[in-house]
Amino acid sequence: MSEQLAREPIQVHIRAARQGDLDALLTLETGAFAQDRLNRRRFRYLLLHANACTLVAENEGCVRGYVCVLFSRAHLHARIYSIAVDAHARGRGAGTALLAAAEAESNARRCRDMRLEVHDRNAKAIALYRRCGYRMFAEVDDYYPEHGRALRFEKPLPHAPLRAASGWSHGP
Ligand SMILES: CC(C)(COP(=O)(O)OP(=O)(O)OC[C@H]1O[C@@H](n2cnc3c(N)ncnc32)[C@H](O)[C@@H]1OP(=O)(O)O)[C@@H](O)C(=O)NCCC(=O)NCCS
Repeated sequence: MSEQLAREPIQVHIRAARQGDLDALLTLETGAFAQDRLNRRRFRYLLLHANACTLVAENEGCVRGYVCVLFSRAHLHARIYSIAVDAHARGRGAGTALLAAAEAESNARRCRDMRLEVHDRNAKAIALYRRCGYRMFAEVDDYYPEHGRALRFEKPLPHAPLRAASGWSHGP
C-alpha cells in the first residue's frame, strides 16, 4: 500500500466506551505506551466510578482509538487523561476526531477549557494538539516515571451548546 493510500482519512464513529470495550482499550494501551500504562482495573474505575468520560472511535466495527477526559467539581478545567489510536490507524484523522469529541463533551458539561500534559519528546502528539488549537502554558520537569519533562497545553472551550458525544460521526 502506498504512503498516500495508507494516510487516507478513515470514517470513525465516536461513542461512549462501555465495559465490553475493556479488552480493546487494553490492547490500544499496550500498543501505544511502553510504560505507565492504564491497567484493566484502572480502566474499569474510569468507566464506572470516576468523574470522567471515555470515548472510543470505531471503524468497521473495531475500536481504533480512545480518549479519556477527567472532570473536576472543584474547577472548570477538563483534562485529557489519555488518548491513543491503534498504530495502523494513525495519521488518518481518528486522533483529531477523538479530540474534537472530547472537547464537545467537556463543553456540554460547561467546562471552561481543556488541559493536557504531553511528553516533550512526543512530537506527533504535540503536532496534533497545536494543529487543534492548543497552546503550551507550562513545563514540568521530572513528570514521567523515567524523569521525562511534560509540556502542559490548554485550549479554551467556546461555551456554546454542542451535541453530546454519543452518536458523533467524523470523517469524510
Ligand atoms: C497522538 C495520537 C493519538 C494521534 O492520533 P492520530 O489518529 O494519528 O491523529 P490524526 O490522524 O488525527 O493526526 C495526526 C496526523 O495525521 C494527519 N492527518 C489528520 N487527519 C488526516 C486525514 N484526514 N488524512 C490524512 N492525514 C491526516 C495530521 O496532519 C497529522 O499529521 P502530522 O502531525 O504527522 O503532520 C497517536 O499518534 C497515538 O496514539 N500515539 C501514541 C499514544 C500517544 O502518544 N498519545 C498521546 C499522549 S499525550
